[in-house]
Amino acid sequence: MCGIIGVTGADDALDILLDGLERLEYRGYDSAGVALIDHGEVVRVRVADGTHSVATLRRDTEAVDQAFSTGIGHTRWATHGQPNEANAHPHLDCAGHLALIHNGIIENYAEIAEDLVAKGHTMTSATDTEVLAHLIEECTKVEPTLTDAVRRALGMVRGAFAIGVVSASDPELIVAARQVSPLIVGSSGSASYIASDIPALLDRTRELMVIEDGEIVELRPGSIRITDAEGNEVPGRPLDVDWDVEAAQKDGYDDFMTKEIHEQPRAIADTLRGRIGSDGAIELDQLDISPDELAQLRAVTIVACGSSYHAAMVAKYAIERWARLPVDVDIASEFRYRDPVLDKSTLVIGVSQSGETIDTLQAMRQAKAAGAHVIVVSNVVDSSMARDADGVLYTRAGPEVGVAATKTVLAQIVALELLGLYLAQVRSTLSSQKFDDIVHELFELEGVVEKTIERDPAVAHVAQELAHAHDYFFLGRHASFPTALEGALKLKEISYLHAEGYAGGELKHGPLAVIEPGCIVVAIATGGEMKEKILSNVSEVKSRGATVVMLAEDGDELAASLADYLLLVPAMSPLLSPVKDIVPLQQLAYHLARNRGLDVDRPRNLAKTVTVE
Ligand code: AGP
Repeated sequence: MCGIIGVTGADDALDILLDGLERLEYRGYDSAGVALIDHGEVVRVRVADGTHSVATLRRDTEAVDQAFSTGIGHTRWATHGQPNEANAHPHLDCAGHLALIHNGIIENYAEIAEDLVAKGHTMTSATDTEVLAHLIEECTKVEPTLTDAVRRALGMVRGAFAIGVVSASDPELIVAARQVSPLIVGSSGSASYIASDIPALLDRTRELMVIEDGEIVELRPGSIRITDAEGNEVPGRPLDVDWDVEAAQKDGYDDFMTKEIHEQPRAIADTLRGRIGSDGAIELDQLDISPDELAQLRAVTIVACGSSYHAAMVAKYAIERWARLPVDVDIASEFRYRDPVLDKSTLVIGVSQSGETIDTLQAMRQAKAAGAHVIVVSNVVDSSMARDADGVLYTRAGPEVGVAATKTVLAQIVALELLGLYLAQVRSTLSSQKFDDIVHELFELEGVVEKTIERDPAVAHVAQELAHAHDYFFLGRHASFPTALEGALKLKEISYLHAEGYAGGELKHGPLAVIEPGCIVVAIATGGEMKEKILSNVSEVKSRGATVVMLAEDGDELAASLADYLLLVPAMSPLLSPVKDIVPLQQLAYHLARNRGLDVDRPRNLAKTVTVE
């Protein structure tokens, strides 16, 4: 996820870009840059300074003693290529006349780059975006206008994008386009603007319009012309905005946690994007280990903390079932001190949204020193873990502001399951029918999670009913066991209520003794195979007076008949079920915390990134 902004027809284009980028930092901040048009030249400034990138960009442009009226700006959250200056946007064509900013992922960038390099283009970055700048340059050779060249180029790319393009040869023009990634336009007086989101423009104008998928916009001072993919002019759809800037950064939601819960379908889609070919085969290009070496592996060990550990536990069930490899999942802080037995026949996977958690980082270092091939599943490109690991598999959830991990966890499960399928592919452990069925279901996840999120009012109602409860037990079995652990962690983390997650089969081995009237048992009765067993556990706790919140699949009448409160989710196969089952548990924790008047984004005693032991 990145932030883009552009303006033409203003007296103070640079200030507008910098102010807008500051307000878009919640979309990413590992590097930032601007490109402005000055007397037939493109003036570009880019910086990569971690969380300070936009501030550094402001400082570095202070010396620029010129007034610009047209320019584009970008704040980046890397998905392809490290967050360094060379990879920062805007990207230029070979001649340096055309500059481009992009939010999204160009899936077929590698094949386009190969073709362009053969035609004599020189790439200076490791991004998918730069390819598009050169492709448009190539198209300008056969098209009469920049807009036509952009339209032709976009016809050749696959993926998600919101782009803004300026050219020294038409100095007052910005061409923008959208496919999947968000894009709005606005105007005030002679100034015309583009941005990926409302907060970037709120201090300049409230006359905003949404750009739809497939549309291309030409912006000039005092004019905005929107056309569809065929070039027909279409009317803009006005946006009614009565938010202040802070509310707009939260997309109108009350807090970042709700916003991030709603971003989960996108996080899943982006994490899958470009990693499953048109023939259904998995393509993971940054693992830095050959398919032959993967086929020779004897075991997998996954190390992680907190919610990332729960995502790893889900992956254990999937990798063992699909790739027939033994999988050990370890809490990183324990792994570090237990002298684990490892060698190069073990693949070690670190899982961490931040890529900085000290225990996971040290566990990975230890595994590497023992001779294992180490990869990391991280949401932050070029994080410490990404730099240390032999290979990487990035989740693409965009920055997560809320301390409680939500969208990053779902993206981790999806990434790890993709990896499990890839292992199955290189080891030939699944029939092609089974493999295709799983791929098909992976693609369905985005829609299923969206549908699940929409059921929030039912969860809010249950939370209201449970206002007086203080003790929660989350029960699950098989791949729903980590779901139970995640539900309990989320609840204690933001509501400060006592919550424990248990494997249902463990109930009789101790915890049953504390079940009494007043206890709330949240039973995850989804995912097929083990459902009957969880329902037996439900009977056991009900007969001891517990109140049961049942998470069950649509149409499951037996589960419904045993529930005091029912939360329904769409049905999916057991190994993918956690991805959508975690959603109502996030929402339950959220509503219980909000009902208690707590700050869900900044729970007490906790930090987003834990870099101390
Ligand atoms: C989850 O809601 C927590 N904030 C926490 O458990 C977190 O998952 C853990 O600290 C690991 O962080 P990481 O993914 O950045 O390594």
